[in-house]
Amino acid sequence: MVAQQTVADGWIVRRMMKLTSFERGFMNSSRHARHTRRTALDLFTHIDLPKQPACLEVGCGQGALARLLVERFDAQVIATDYDSRQVAVARERLADLDGKIELRVVDARAMPFEGGQFDAVFSFGILHHIVRGWRLAVAETSRVLRPGGSFVFTEVVAVNAVEQTLKRLVPGLDLLGATSLQACFAENSLHLQYWAPGGGRSIFAISPMAYCAAVARRSRSPHIEAQAN
Ligand SMILES: C[S@@+](CC[C@H](N)C(=O)[O-])C[C@H]1O[C@@H](n2cnc3c(N)ncnc32)[C@H](O)[C@@H]1O
Repeated sequence: MVAQQTVADGWIVRRMMKLTSFERGFMNSSRHARHTRRTALDLFTHIDLPKQPACLEVGCGQGALARLLVERFDAQVIATDYDSRQVAVARERLADLDGKIELRVVDARAMPFEGGQFDAVFSFGILHHIVRGWRLAVAETSRVLRPGGSFVFTEVVAVNAVEQTLKRLVPGLDLLGATSLQACFAENSLHLQYWAPGGGRSIFAISPMAYCAAVARRSRSPHIEAQAN
């Protein structure tokens, strides 16, 4: 086990990465758990996991996805969140799965795991919460995935026009946009395999932000795949 690491943040960044009481109420609701299950079941059709896969969930919230991974794949799951209160909620709700899921407080930008340790990493709605250093979280995800492993995620990203305009207006702003996210994947040997925009949330049709549900694969050999492309 690699030692727990930290990233030094100011109070505002730390606060923004945690949920507000309003968000907490919604994220911990049974309605949101049902939505998570539906989204995950769709994304599962785009991945291929070995028996009893080693899975990491980043930002597990109430633990609905971690439960599904055990039920569906008999997975060995490490479920993590930056917010210790969310880890406590998940621990309580997953108590009946005694021993099948390890719950830990972990910052996605500095994961205490060995390189190549996981068959799949799951992250539902996390990167846009990482207001400083989302690229570190992508790099860490790639590092802990085994070659050929899957990164399964949902995200809220700025649409391209908004991303380009804001970048011109505020030089240095590292906004999480569809374009910058996909470029960051390429830099970290993550190849996008499936990208479903919209996800059935109609509000995003008129919003400067877009919701996506997607799968990327960690390249087996960065050099060989780069030459082939
Ligand atoms: C929108 S909620 C999503 C929770 C859960 N994945 C779900 O779909 O219900 C975002 C979660 O990301 C967590 N989070 C924020 N910053 C994080 C970080 N740096 N590392 C790990 N988790 C983080 C928050 O604590 C919160 O639980």
